[in-house]
Amino acid sequence: MSSDYTTVDGAVVGILMGSRSDWPTMKDACQMLTRLGITHERNVISAHRSADRLAEYCRSVEQRGLKVLICAAGGAAHLAGVVAAQTHLPVLGCPMKAWSLEGLDSLLSMVQMPSGVPVATFAVGKPGAVNAALFAAAILGLADEGVRRKLVEFRTEQAAKVDELPED
Ligand code: RP5
Repeated sequence: MSSDYTTVDGAVVGILMGSRSDWPTMKDACQMLTRLGITHERNVISAHRSADRLAEYCRSVEQRGLKVLICAAGGAAHLAGVVAAQTHLPVLGCPMKAWSLEGLDSLLSMVQMPSGVPVATFAVGKPGAVNAALFAAAILGLADEGVRRKLVEFRTEQAAKVDELPED
């Protein structure tokens, strides 16, 4: 069946962005997933500009084998909450620094989910994008030893770099 979204065979993480303008931030999440050997797919689907496509995507995710969804949005950032309402997968939210308020609008929109439908919300911008990818790895690593090993390697390398002296 043809779909109005991009799929990748074997993908276990789905990245959704509310706009193409979120890509410069979210590409860091994709790079981290790739580094950790995690197959993922990415789509731009807006909660408010393309609501029907979003519902169609959400209906597909569990049967296609996705395990974690990472949602990026800015402003009145509804995307992660709307996705969480329509799936039972863990939804990780990345607030984008959009056109005003330095991303505080996005952060509060995403993090203040009413009781009952959680969105695990990360820091505004690139740090949150990278951490969402690492958190996805931690979730997947519970059942996938290969991912867990790559995550431990990354953490070990990161720890070693803390002790490096700055160059003159
Ligand atoms: C949100 O509005 C998107 O996630 C984006 O962060 C923000 C601005 O979108 P554009 O106006 O740049 O398309 O839906």
